[in-house]
Amino acid sequence: LFAGGADFLKGVVAMDGLPPADRLEVCFAGRSNVGKSTLINALTGRRALARASNTPGRTQEINFFSLAESHYLVDLPGYGFAKAPVATVEKWQRLLKAYLSGRATLRRAFVLIDARHGVKSVDEEILKLLDGAAVTFQAVLTKADKIKAAERDAVLDQVRGALAKHPAAFPEIVLTSSETSQGIDILRAIVADLA
Ligand code: GTP
Ligand code: MG
Repeated sequence: LFAGGADFLKGVVAMDGLPPADRLEVCFAGRSNVGKSTLINALTGRRALARASNTPGRTQEINFFSLAESHYLVDLPGYGFAKAPVATVEKWQRLLKAYLSGRATLRRAFVLIDARHGVKSVDEEILKLLDGAAVTFQAVLTKADKIKAAERDAVLDQVRGALAKHPAAFPEIVLTSSETSQGIDILRAIVADLA
């Protein structure tokens, strides 16, 4: 599925801009700067397909990437970015909510969690939204290269505990690093196995 790379299709700022819901779709959600765009680049093997940056809040649109003409990978705007103006945050939240609850072809949401921090209170809002929309979500820990092996079990326990409260949570947690490529093949296989 990933052999041919992926192509940027469009950035969407309103529901009427969404591409037709005619193929399997997965989305990547998470706090600003958690590594969503970087992960999409690692999955697709393209360095600069999704714009990654050091500036939190960089991705402000819902970005669609088409994969093998059969799937969409969707890069969602990050949340929890304190410096963004309130009106902007509210607009993102409305769009995010409309997208997550109204997209029939959305098969799974990957919720990215920084392996150094675990699930934070700002993450809870999106987890509840996904529960409400009955979108199965799976936690993907990012930046695994930044934690020591000894810290890993503690963060996995914390995330497992947080997921246990959410009916839409898929139990398997994926530990990834875009730096070392840890977990990238596993995540590709998970996407490829969705039907
Ligand atoms: P927004 O678009 O602002 O929501 O951020 P994002 O979630 O798309 O994050 P982005 O991919 O832009 O990455 C943010 C920063 O984290 C960049 O400096 C990346 O290089 C860095 N980063 C992402 N993934 C990893 C990783 O696995 N390991 C390390 N060490 N750094 C990473
Ligand atoms: Mg981004």
